[in-house]
Amino acid sequence: MRRQKITIVGAGNVGGSAAQRLAEKDGYTIALIDIVEGLPQGKALDLAQAGAVCGYDSQIIGTNDYDETADSDVVVITSGMARKPGMSRSELLEKNTKIVRSVVQEIVKRSPSAILVIVANPLDAMTHVAYRVSGFPKERVVGMAGVLDSARFSTFIAQALNVSVHNVHAMVLGGHGDAMVPLVRYTTVSGRPVDQWMSKEKLDDIVTRTRNGGAEIVNLLKTGSAYYAPAASAVEMVEAIIRDERKVIPCAALCEGEYGVKGIYMGVPVRLGKNGVEEILEYDLTPEEKTAFDTSAQGVRELCKEVDRILDAG
Ligand code: LAC
Repeated sequence: MRRQKITIVGAGNVGGSAAQRLAEKDGYTIALIDIVEGLPQGKALDLAQAGAVCGYDSQIIGTNDYDETADSDVVVITSGMARKPGMSRSELLEKNTKIVRSVVQEIVKRSPSAILVIVANPLDAMTHVAYRVSGFPKERVVGMAGVLDSARFSTFIAQALNVSVHNVHAMVLGGHGDAMVPLVRYTTVSGRPVDQWMSKEKLDDIVTRTRNGGAEIVNLLKTGSAYYAPAASAVEMVEAIIRDERKVIPCAALCEGEYGVKGIYMGVPVRLGKNGVEEILEYDLTPEEKTAFDTSAQGVRELCKEVDRILDAG
């Protein structure tokens, strides 16, 4: 029987960690590709050898050649640069738009039926790039962020209440930026709304910390950004697709009227299954929640305009 094939583009920390998590699931073919010679090959070999100890038998390809990614079922795109000192946000946007464009062009030639899971930042704008460049239907291009942002929200709530994180179900919508929208009203701890568990002040602090969750880790690590939780979040999405789980999780999906937003990728609850984004679920929002969502959408819209200008310039 053919094993399902997952390509991970970018063998850095997020890509390497995602490859490890998928390898440990046992039974997939994983292609790890990077432009740096030796890096994906070295990580693939190391991961294969770990299988002899851990008891998994995944096929792991490390390569610099896109031909080896052919016929992938799912492709996770982690490539892109982090901002260097002195680099403006729009310089970064331009560099990553060009990187994601060239990656997507190479991928679609060889895996025309794949589902693309975008992890590159700025997340919502890079998912827009992948959608435009691939020409794929919107169902097959999805961005990872809501799972990560919700995981951060859940973790902080569990720590504050001294309960298991398994008891917490959190929902964070909007763009993957500091205007993201942690939805307190749809967040529960063992079925009980979270605002019945703690004071408004405490909850406000946790909402703010969630919005700055990525930056908090960058400040601690100093030389890079988070990767364990981002990789785990991408893998959760990959498995929801590969195993046709139809899991309802927040992901960046192309909104065409949902939540009053048209033509941009935003973090919204979706049902994720073998066809990719099978449905966007529209939760009722209060006027305050809607305003917060619109503010976040406005930020994403501006980035997408800039991305369109870069792509149109060729
Ligand atoms: C973060 C980056 C990976 O939120 O987007 O940590």
